[in-house]
Amino acid sequence: MIEAKAVNFAYRRGIPVLKDISCTIPDGEAVALLGHNGSGKTTLSRLFMALDHPRSGQVLVDGRDIIQFEPADLADQIGYVFQNPDLQILGDTVYEEVAYGLKNKKLPKSTIDRQVRDAVEAMGLTPFLDRYPRSLSFGQKRRLGVATALALQPKTLILDEITNGQDEQEKQHMMAYLGKLQEERHMTLILITHDMDIARTYTTHSLVLNNGDLVYDGSTQALFDGVRPVERWGLKQPVLSRICALMKVKEVRTPADLCAKLVLKEGVKP
Ligand SMILES: Nc1ncnc2c1ncn2[C@@H]1O[C@H](COP(=O)(O)OP(=O)(O)OP(=O)(O)O)[C@@H](O)[C@H]1O
Ligand SMILES: [Mg+2]
Repeated sequence: MIEAKAVNFAYRRGIPVLKDISCTIPDGEAVALLGHNGSGKTTLSRLFMALDHPRSGQVLVDGRDIIQFEPADLADQIGYVFQNPDLQILGDTVYEEVAYGLKNKKLPKSTIDRQVRDAVEAMGLTPFLDRYPRSLSFGQKRRLGVATALALQPKTLILDEITNGQDEQEKQHMMAYLGKLQEERHMTLILITHDMDIARTYTTHSLVLNNGDLVYDGSTQALFDGVRPVERWGLKQPVLSRICALMKVKEVRTPADLCAKLVLKEGVKP
């Protein structure tokens, strides 16, 4: 479980970036971290990883204040995929890149090999195992970042805008895989995204930041029920929510749910 208690944070210039943030992310939950550009999403997630520390307040991981922690102290528990994939690349080949963290854990070679190949396969990168990571396309580098984090089988995965630079098919494939994994492994997923349809489909809980204030902490479905001022917070209504409102259909999470409801409704044929 990750908790923020009255967290305040500012970078060097001293302008407050996070203002008195308190929230709880329980184990096994899929949470969207939403907000306009510069609202503080990446900054808050960096505090969860001990990449930075609050100026005041506390961040607790499994009940422990992480103020004294370095990112390495949490590497076993929390996987983080950066907004900019170039920042994360260390290895000379895709294989080495994904194996890097596993080698640090001094796991048996056969375990490393299996976990690397599984994660690479899951992200559709098997044909590139021997490639120099920096020569991959932007979308492939993003998936490499996800594979590297997944290979370590973390309890919590923080994904910062990972669907940027992916085509629609790659995006859906990756998210469907991560959604399934989240359910199967009871993994905590923190999804930072500007794609409200992704948030609506793959998360149950949302946190919304607006200029460093936490303005919403509740169910993702209720966030888009047409009552909250989401546009004022810089968010768009998901396409699915707009269709549901037009069709007067409630409680739908995926396009498949919507189709099923429409089929049940009078006069609508599959
Ligand atoms: N290293 C830094 N030094 C100084 N200010 C920073 C730094 N990183 C971010 N900021 C500022 O902190 C605020 C929050 O930035 P942050 O990157 O957390 O926002 P974000 O919600 O992730 O935005 P985006 O959607 O564009 O990724 C912004 O005003 C940004 O300019
Ligand atoms: Mg960001």
